[in-house]
Amino acid sequence: MTDITGVLHSRHSARIPFDPARPITPHDLEMILDAARWAPTPHNMQNFEIIAVDDPDVLEAVGEVSTTVSAEFLRENYAQVSSSEEELARRRVGIMGTGFPRAWLDPASWDLSSRDPEYTRKLRDSLLGCPMLLVVLYDAGRRAPASEGDALGLIGLGCVLENMWLGAEALGIGLQVLASLAGGDAEPTLAKLLSIPEHMRVAFGCRLGYPLVTHSAGLRVRRDVGAFTHRNAYGHTDLSDWSTTP
Ligand SMILES: Cc1cc2nc3c(=O)[nH]c(=O)nc-3n(C[C@H](O)[C@H](O)[C@H](O)COP(=O)(O)O)c2cc1C
Repeated sequence: MTDITGVLHSRHSARIPFDPARPITPHDLEMILDAARWAPTPHNMQNFEIIAVDDPDVLEAVGEVSTTVSAEFLRENYAQVSSSEEELARRRVGIMGTGFPRAWLDPASWDLSSRDPEYTRKLRDSLLGCPMLLVVLYDAGRRAPASEGDALGLIGLGCVLENMWLGAEALGIGLQVLASLAGGDAEPTLAKLLSIPEHMRVAFGCRLGYPLVTHSAGLRVRRDVGAFTHRNAYGHTDLSDWSTTP
């Protein structure tokens, strides 16, 4: 477990600039895509396609795509953010609000009808000079057998993401998930730009690159194992005698 544990703990969201002049090497890209290839998916359906965008002109065009934040996002995002490291340390879940525009964190000021530019952003703001963007797609017309809302298929896409993320981490490549590529007003524009067929949906994007600066993680929080593990029945969270056969 030692090797994998190190990568599991060091994997992180690389919300930092990458070196735009340093393309992902063919070897490294192949390793990351091979990690995706071996991801577990329900019924081994492998319901995913990946567009690897590295053409600077296409990246430029993707950067021009606008996304408008929804009221739903503002509300649900607000519930997950902490305004200080002390608050985050106490909550043990969620993220710091520091990366978001000030207006997104002030419910009193939310007014999407105003078409305030604060609520519309170009993808360029998220790409931050990355030399490669992976756009992960899935065929919305297929689903894992009897899986309501294709929840199992979506879990499979999560496995694809995690495999690529761990692979990138092991290679010293930064990865940041870009959920804003999926749904909203970005997806149809992106679909045209990348010739995505109508039956395919965007699951998420990943910006990849060699970090220009050392990652400064800030405070990273997780719940303790005992806070989410229930022994034999829900609510039995005392794991102190775990090694003892009940
Ligand atoms: C499905 C999914 C969507 C995510 N979307 C975004 C995103 O749009 N932008 C972003 O910066 N991070 C995104 N993240 C990263 C999470 O915020 C991050 O994994 C979490 O805060 C834990 O931090 P860590 O990755 O540094 O351990 C996403 C992660 C997952 C699994």
